[in-house]
Parts: sequence; structure tokens; C-alpha cells
Amino acid sequence: MSGELIALVTGYTGESGKALLKELIKNNQFKKIILVGRRQVDYSDNEYKEKTEQRQIDFDKIDDYSEAFRGANVHYCCLGTTRGKAGAEGFRRVDFDYIVGAARLAKQAGCKHFHLLSSQGANSQSLFLYTKVKGQTETALTQMSFERLSIYRPAMLMVDRVENRAFESFAQTIVRNTVQRVAPELITTPIEILARAMCFNAFTKNQSGIEILDNHAIFRLAEQQPFLPKDT
Ligand SMILES: NC(=O)c1ccc[n+]([C@@H]2O[C@H](COP(=O)([O-])OP(=O)(O)OC[C@H]3O[C@@H](n4cnc5c(N)ncnc54)[C@H](OP(=O)(O)O)[C@@H]3O)[C@@H](O)[C@H]2O)c1
Repeated sequence: MSGELIALVTGYTGESGKALLKELIKNNQFKKIILVGRRQVDYSDNEYKEKTEQRQIDFDKIDDYSEAFRGANVHYCCLGTTRGKAGAEGFRRVDFDYIVGAARLAKQAGCKHFHLLSSQGANSQSLFLYTKVKGQTETALTQMSFERLSIYRPAMLMVDRVENRAFESFAQTIVRNTVQRVAPELITTPIEILARAMCFNAFTKNQSGIEILDNHAIFRLAEQQPFLPKDT
């Protein structure tokens, strides 16, 4: 994309969102980073304070907040919850309604490149709620005619989560000591790899307009050095 890049991140308080924000700030190619969420974060780091602008919204009344989505040409969506945390209805509300609502407002506000953090196995025909909703959300976004839509389907995110999720942490321990050692790309995605791939992808070209990045593609993208620093 040519011209000045202004990113907007939804889900920036979550683990993927935090890793992405760190990468976007480090990257230094974005003029500004707008952060849209349900709560504000008190950043002590000066770089965070200078480069970001937080906008607080109520996602249940998202259409009242169209202004919050203005001013960015690149949108990164890292929103999501779990069935365990929000129940089946709550999961659908966040992972479908909120994401589709945010994408609609982003499109109306002139966003050119929408990045959706989805999941491995996303399939609108799936018998499982998680993968089905992920697939339905992907489908809804593909119908919005973004100039460019990048859908990321990472595997199990490897992260030291602030929130206590006993099953996830148990599964990560098992996987870290087995599969990840011999085949790191098979069923795991370190959160820093995902963040780097999402950030770098704002600077790559895509012919089709819609791209789906599986775990392998995420790893390959994260290895790339697609641009020179601004002042070289
Ligand atoms: N965990 C995995 O292994 C895995 C694998 C593949 C894909 N994914 C997908 O990746 C995405 C991000 O995952 P993550 O682990 O980074 O998520 P996370 O740490 O749970 O963060 C989720 C983000 O969504 C926001 N959010 C959740 N419920 C909300 C609500 N009711 N209203 C407004 N905002 C809400 C959170 O805000 P607050 O901070 O205010 O709660 C946070 O910013 C999800 O869609 C997930 O399904 C995860």
C-alpha cells in the first residue's frame, strides 16, 4: 500500500494484540496506531504514549461508535473469547457479531487492508462451534469487498498468558516438550511469529485481494524482511 500507514487494532489488550502492538511500534513504519477496545490501558512506555491513541467503545452498541473506526487505512482484528469464558452465545457474540461489526465500520471508514486473526480449522460447515463460528466470520468478511483481506489461521498460540487458562497451559506444556521440538510448525504458533507475520504483511503485495495464511505461510512471512527502514 502506498502513502502513510495508519493502523487500527481491535483486541489490542489480548495476548496476540499485545504482541502485535509491540511489533507495530518496533516496526516504525506506521505513522500512528489507533487502539479500539472496551477498556483503556495505562502505558508507561513513552513510545507507546506517543504513537498510540486509545478509543473506548461499547461493542454491544458498536454502530454508535463509527467515529472510533475513522482515520486508519489498515485494520488488525485480534478480538476473540472462548466458550469457557463467555458461554456459547457470548462466544458467538464476540467472535462473530463484534468482529463483523468492526469490519463493517472499518470498511465504511475507508480501510483498505483488513487483517483478521482467525484460526486453524476455520470452516463454516464444521460441527464444532469454535471452528464453525470462525469460518462464518471469515465468510462474512470475504463478502465485504475490502481492497485487501488477509485471514490468518494460526495453530495453538504459544504464549505465557497473563490470564489463567488451565487447559491451555497444560496443553502447551505437553506440546512444548514433544511436537514443538521436532516439528515446530505442525500444531503450534509462537505469538511473536504471528505478530511479526501480521505486521510485515502490511508491506507485501497480494494479487487476489483475499488471502488465507495457514500456519506454514505465517512462519514464512515472519522470516521475511520486506522493506527498508524509513530513513535509509
Ligand atoms: N489461543 C489460541 O491458541 C488460538 C489459536 C488460534 C487462533 N486464536 C484466535 O486468536 C484470537 C486472539 O486470541 P488471544 O488468545 O490473543 O485472545 P485474548 O488474549 O483472549 O484477547 C482477546 C481480545 O478480545 C477482547 N475481548 C474479548 N471479549 C470481549 C468483549 N466481550 N468485549 C470487547 N472485547 C472483548 C479482549 O479484551 P479484554 O482484554 O478487555 O478482555 C482482548 O483484547 C481469537 O480470535 C482466538 O480465537 C487463538
